Amino acid sequence: MTYPATRLRRTRSAPWSRALHAETILRPSDLIWPLFVTEGRGVVEPIRTMPGVNRLSVDKLAEAAAQAVSLGIPCIALFPNTQADRRSEDGAEALNPDNLMCQAIKALKNAQPGLGVLTDVALDPYTSHGHDGLLAEDGRILNDATIEVLIGQSLNQARAGADIIAPSDMMDGRVGAIRDGLEGEGFDLVQIMAYSAKYASAFYGPFRDAVGSSGHLKGDKKTYQMDPANAREALREVELDILEGADSVMVKPGMPYLDIIRSLRDAFDVPIFAYQVSGEYAMLEAAVAAGVLDRDRAVLETLTAFKRAGCSGVLTYHAPLAARLLG
Ligand code: PBG
Repeated sequence: MTYPATRLRRTRSAPWSRALHAETILRPSDLIWPLFVTEGRGVVEPIRTMPGVNRLSVDKLAEAAAQAVSLGIPCIALFPNTQADRRSEDGAEALNPDNLMCQAIKALKNAQPGLGVLTDVALDPYTSHGHDGLLAEDGRILNDATIEVLIGQSLNQARAGADIIAPSDMMDGRVGAIRDGLEGEGFDLVQIMAYSAKYASAFYGPFRDAVGSSGHLKGDKKTYQMDPANAREALREVELDILEGADSVMVKPGMPYLDIIRSLRDAFDVPIFAYQVSGEYAMLEAAVAAGVLDRDRAVLETLTAFKRAGCSGVLTYHAPLAARLLG
């Protein structure tokens, strides 16, 4: 009788040993918590397609910020649900220094100055057509004209106190242009986290419901967001964004794109973040509600998988739950 020379079960045989041999450690400080902001006072409004996630009015943000700090979550990402009468063809509300986003940034910074604030740059919360860029008469998205507005939007957010500018629009060349704009106004320490590999995905549906743009969107975003069929193209997107001055890059959605994260990790030394998007959240919650998954275990497993694939951190609506479980 011969026995296995190597027994991999030996190191798995007790909790202390599993802890000692863990290759990947998930911590609360790996998490970025996305919040949806809406007009009004005292508003905590459930989002139908994202059970457990609410839209908050600006005055309610301080509570969430305090929660983030006490849980050890280092950064909040903000998304505005702009009221319909402030949306327009050209998305000019993005440049209003008193828009919902700027009010939210100031409220967070005022409540918790040590908490990082990440702000999304793209025109979709402000356009009547729901696209991330400006539309030509024939319906095409105008790349370079959009960039001019994105620079203004980024400066507007930086002046309000944003720490990380996160362009999610997928226009070509926007990272370098925004970097120049920020340097030009002395915002040399404001970071850029580029949504570099952002795919035209079915998994953004609940988010568009949350920010109220689903009813507005005409057509799809396939002329600017990436084709889910492509992996090598993600390397080109990231390479360009690094050359243009991105401090970190993002892959989005998360779970269906772990292969992209891994190939980026192997090719570049830039910090990589994943966005576990609204549809992924909704999918997990639906499985939990149907009694087929254990929420706590499933959430921690998915977040650990992002780190194993090579991420520095993850944007996830489950951030407070995960931080509590890890704390
Ligand atoms: C806006 C933006 C989107 C998301 C983040 N920023 C939606 C989109 O591109 O249509 C999606 C996030 C999520 O689904 O949780 N450009």
